[in-house]
Amino acid sequence: MAADIMYTIHFYVLFVLLTLRCSSSFIGNGENYRRNLSLELNPGLNSSLTPLPPGVGLLHVRALGKNNTLHYLLCSQGAPALLLVHTNSTSSKVKVDWPAFLVQNTTGSLKLTPESSVLYSNALVFTRLWEYDDVNDTAVPEHLPPSSFFQPYELQNFTWDDLNKTLDPMAHTALLCGRGASESFSNGSLCLKFSAFDVEGRDQGWPSLLHNANSSQLRVVLDGVVPRSNRSRFSLELQVVGGTQVMSRVDVLQSIDDEYTPSIFKVSQWVSSPVNSTSPVLGYAQWKPVAYRRPSPVFEDATPCRHSTPVPVAQLPPSGLVRAYFGGERQTTGLNMTFSITGDPFYNTTNYLSWTVLVGLGSPPVDSFSPLVLVIMAVGLGTPMLIILLGGVCVCVRKNRPQPQVYEPIN
Ligand SMILES: *[C@@H]1O[C@H](CO)[C@@H](O)[C@H](O)[C@H]1NC(C)=O
Ligand SMILES: *[C@@H]1O[C@H](CO)[C@@H](O)[C@H](O)[C@H]1NC(C)=O
Ligand SMILES: *[C@@H]1O[C@H](CO)[C@@H](O)[C@H](O)[C@H]1NC(C)=O
Ligand SMILES: *[C@@H]1O[C@H](CO)[C@@H](O)[C@H](O)[C@H]1NC(C)=O
Ligand SMILES: *[C@@H]1O[C@H](CO)[C@@H](O)[C@H](O)[C@H]1NC(C)=O
Ligand SMILES: *[C@@H]1O[C@H](CO)[C@@H](O)[C@H](O)[C@H]1NC(C)=O
Ligand SMILES: *[C@@H]1O[C@H](CO)[C@@H](O)[C@H](O)[C@H]1NC(C)=O
Ligand SMILES: *[C@@H]1O[C@H](CO)[C@@H](O)[C@H](O)[C@H]1NC(C)=O
Ligand SMILES: *[C@@H]1O[C@H](CO)[C@@H](O)[C@H](O)[C@H]1NC(C)=O
Ligand SMILES: *[C@@H]1O[C@H](CO)[C@@H](O)[C@H](O)[C@H]1NC(C)=O
Ligand SMILES: *[C@@H]1O[C@H](CO)[C@@H](O)[C@H](O)[C@H]1NC(C)=O
Ligand SMILES: *[C@@H]1O[C@H](CO)[C@@H](O)[C@H](O)[C@H]1NC(C)=O
Repeated sequence: MAADIMYTIHFYVLFVLLTLRCSSSFIGNGENYRRNLSLELNPGLNSSLTPLPPGVGLLHVRALGKNNTLHYLLCSQGAPALLLVHTNSTSSKVKVDWPAFLVQNTTGSLKLTPESSVLYSNALVFTRLWEYDDVNDTAVPEHLPPSSFFQPYELQNFTWDDLNKTLDPMAHTALLCGRGASESFSNGSLCLKFSAFDVEGRDQGWPSLLHNANSSQLRVVLDGVVPRSNRSRFSLELQVVGGTQVMSRVDVLQSIDDEYTPSIFKVSQWVSSPVNSTSPVLGYAQWKPVAYRRPSPVFEDATPCRHSTPVPVAQLPPSGLVRAYFGGERQTTGLNMTFSITGDPFYNTTNYLSWTVLVGLGSPPVDSFSPLVLVIMAVGLGTPMLIILLGGVCVCVRKNRPQPQVYEPIN
């Protein structure tokens, strides 16, 4: 019995030690992999030879690793798009034939050279913003009659601001803001805040997605748009185009830790992986199913969101970048991200929505338990165990003592 107890205490001590070790290794993880980032606007453009039409910009981020390079290209020609290209060379370059690129009908007017170094490419395109009148507060646009929908905002027809003004080469960020032609956008905008990352880390603001050196992030903000009904809700249509393997399924993972994104215990990832699902993921878009109704949200400003099943789309999305890089025969899939659920306030209450997505190469980052949670778990699980054990010890010790005779034998 005593040996048993010793073992258990031993085990508990080991568990606590292991926990502390794990936590410190999580803290150290940030140093594991670093890329050298450089940002460049409109690579190779001589604007005296090829003047850019207003609102067209192409941001190129080169993320140089030890033996490979990631290229991110963010483009506002047509529907805004983020293209990710992975090459196994440290000297791969973006080459743009600007006159052809601007005509938008020439495949190959943007390429990565040498072309043989390209291992993976994938583009995420923001195609449409849907608005619907949720009269019965169901928040399920799929079940609504077409008459509930307003004319969608085609993002290809938006007027986009100059990327040059918002580019921050030191922070590796840029803000791309656009407006529709209608009255609703006279004081409002749809903005994409792009961030590229050189090391592992986490954004300050919710949802505080975990990122690494193989990922970049887009925060979509719909601010100050005048809704076309009092009970308006919005959906954002996203499309992806893949080089060899298109992102075809969305996995939803559960977590029991919501420390970084309060009240959200799920993470969704739209992954590109070969039909054989045991193979590793090649690339992904990852998000937490939550949007926020204020710029500096508190707990009550969170509103859940929901994605529709990805479906094949017959045509390439209307993005100049996608047309220039991929051309004709490519697989495209799309889904709608719907913000809010039944009972949540409508858009008119704050006229603000923000939602964040991480785009990256390889397996998506996995949230691990934070050191704080691990210590709480160790204490929480270990203490009751110790108490039970000590209780058991006392009982045993008492049982084994000779019991005083209570009843006198009757003669
Ligand atoms: C752009 O083209 C003009 C006209 O050919 C030339 O004079 C100028 O040097 C070029 N600028 C750059 C930065 O290449
Ligand atoms: C990144 O740049 C630093 C200094 O400029 C250099 O020491 C380091 O080797 C570079 N890393 C890579 C992966 O190129
Ligand atoms: C590139 O570097 C990584 C880690 O530094 C290594 O695992 C991988 O095998 C290298 N790839 C090639 C093609 O050298
Ligand atoms: C692209 O458009 C231009 C002008 O609209 C036209 O002259 C050219 O033939 C087109 N090229 C292709 C490959 O369709
Ligand atoms: C890069 O990948 C291509 C295609 O997979 C291969 O032919 C080439 O040898 C690779 N280059 C290096 C430096 O690994
Ligand atoms: C709203 O609910 C009413 C009553 O249940 C129903 O008649 C109507 O069709 C619903 N409207 C929509 C747009 O679903
Ligand atoms: C958006 O632009 C496309 C192509 O330029 C055009 O065909 C379409 O009518 C426009 N849609 C709206 C709603 O303006
Ligand atoms: C961006 O703006 C700065 C100053 O406004 C200008 O000097 C620079 O040439 C611009 N860059 C591009 C690529 O347009
Ligand atoms: C936009 O803002 C201006 C000034 O604040 C205001 O006068 C105008 O009515 C607003 N427009 C809309 C459509 O809300
Ligand atoms: C938003 O719409 C709801 C539902 O019609 C209405 O009760 C509320 O007054 C509106 N709020 C604002 C700020 O307009
Ligand atoms: C997955 O691929 C492996 C080897 O590439 C193969 O042995 C296995 O049968 C495949 N599984 C499925 C479900 O296709
Ligand atoms: C998004 O929703 C709209 C409205 O319900 C629908 O017409 C469209 O086909 C959906 N797009 C995708 C990619 O599912």
